[in-house]
Amino acid sequence: MSRSAHPAGPRHADVLPEGHYPPPPADLNALDPKVWARTVTRDKDGVVTVGGIAVTELAERFGTPAYILDEADFRARARAWRTAFGNDADVFYAGKAFLSRAVVRWLHEEGLNLDVCSGTELATALSAGMPAERIAFHGNNKSMAEIRRAVEAGVGRVVLDSFQEIVRVAHVAQELGRRQRVQIRVTVGVEAHTHEFIATAHEDQKFGIPLAGGQAAEAVRRALQLDGLELVGIHSHIGSQIFDMSGFEVAAHRVVRLLREIRDEHGIELPEIDLGGGLGIAYTSDDDPREPHEIAKALREIVSGECEVARLRTPRISVEPGRAIVGPTAFTLYEVGTIKPLEGLRTYVSVDGGMSDNIRTALYDAEYSIALASRVSDAEPMLVRVVGKHCESGDIVVRDAFLPADLAPGDLVAVPATGAYCRSMASNYNHALRPPVVAVADGEARVIVRRETEEDLLRLDVG
Ligand code: LLP
Repeated sequence: MSRSAHPAGPRHADVLPEGHYPPPPADLNALDPKVWARTVTRDKDGVVTVGGIAVTELAERFGTPAYILDEADFRARARAWRTAFGNDADVFYAGKAFLSRAVVRWLHEEGLNLDVCSGTELATALSAGMPAERIAFHGNNKSMAEIRRAVEAGVGRVVLDSFQEIVRVAHVAQELGRRQRVQIRVTVGVEAHTHEFIATAHEDQKFGIPLAGGQAAEAVRRALQLDGLELVGIHSHIGSQIFDMSGFEVAAHRVVRLLREIRDEHGIELPEIDLGGGLGIAYTSDDDPREPHEIAKALREIVSGECEVARLRTPRISVEPGRAIVGPTAFTLYEVGTIKPLEGLRTYVSVDGGMSDNIRTALYDAEYSIALASRVSDAEPMLVRVVGKHCESGDIVVRDAFLPADLAPGDLVAVPATGAYCRSMASNYNHALRPPVVAVADGEARVIVRRETEEDLLRLDVG
């Protein structure tokens, strides 16, 4: 049920009917490589290690909760996307999934581009040396100050999201004596989440300009008339955590139809098409994501097939994966605080973080897995609900999981696949101090985003 749930409003701690629970895994100590970062393993004492460092050492040095990020894995995934798409296509990492200056430097070194969607994401990217021309600037309500900052910096493209924005960007560009490269984001009437996609009536959303009713065609007409803009392509993003490529197929079909209409009406062939992000990752062993080279091949075939039918030159393709690059590369390390067996119901295991460091379970009913990380155990599996320390019953980290029955306060547990949309959506609820991000590589660990301190919080509270 929960995996196909549409990301909607908050859920509370609803009790699932008996029989829903998955069977316990054959080996509770096993670490499924599908969901764990690549260098994660157990050492001879059974302690989970990453990049050659034991989590017990990481907890001692950096405290818990902490996001532990496998730098080698991040770089390998970034490189795999870059290689899969080659030199005639572009990969823009979606910074909203997780952005820090170290990440920007890794992306730069690995030859990726960057998608940002706020002035402050842009500032982060620029401050870490990402060349402006490799940055795409997104957002459905960019302020004039943000637009000015982006155009002034010389970003490679601004993705236009509304009729107002066409005029605003053109105005700013003209004032600055620039011609800004832009794409128009269209809503293609496709919505895809996880294993399903729906190809009707999903224009009811705040993003983009609908293809329906000729609105996107009108946006193109206006953009082409304005001197400050150089319209280079059409952009479409259809959803999140997608495994099924058929949503992209319908989207590409509709975008290419628009490209053909543009050629027929204006006599120009736009050179670029961006198919957005949204490619899924494995949060649990049940998920089977595709490899970047399979995705690249599928998208190329879809776009070139559609263009052949429409008798168009195949445009340069770009994609914007966020989750698929950073998601699997990190896990959250927690310490177990209390264990509360509720007779006939379930056992609640409380950890020292919760919805302030991972809102995704409460917000989207997202599924995660968890493992005892500071040791191995031969004890029987125990069905648990892993919860946080916040004042809210919906404060759930892992809804249903198995941990060994001898679990005890002070044990370290780790939740894999928390690299995307956990730190970036973290909050200070209950004045929680947001955890650090610790990057581990080749036996070295370093903080790339430090833990918040009480002073950080009090500095904002000016009395
Ligand atoms: N491009 C555009 C225009 C987007 O809106 C997004 C995500 C992406 C790329 C990257 O999508 P990805 O490859 O990371 O799935 N907070 C939610 C996800 C919201 C994504 C919004 N846009 C979550 O935690 O699942």
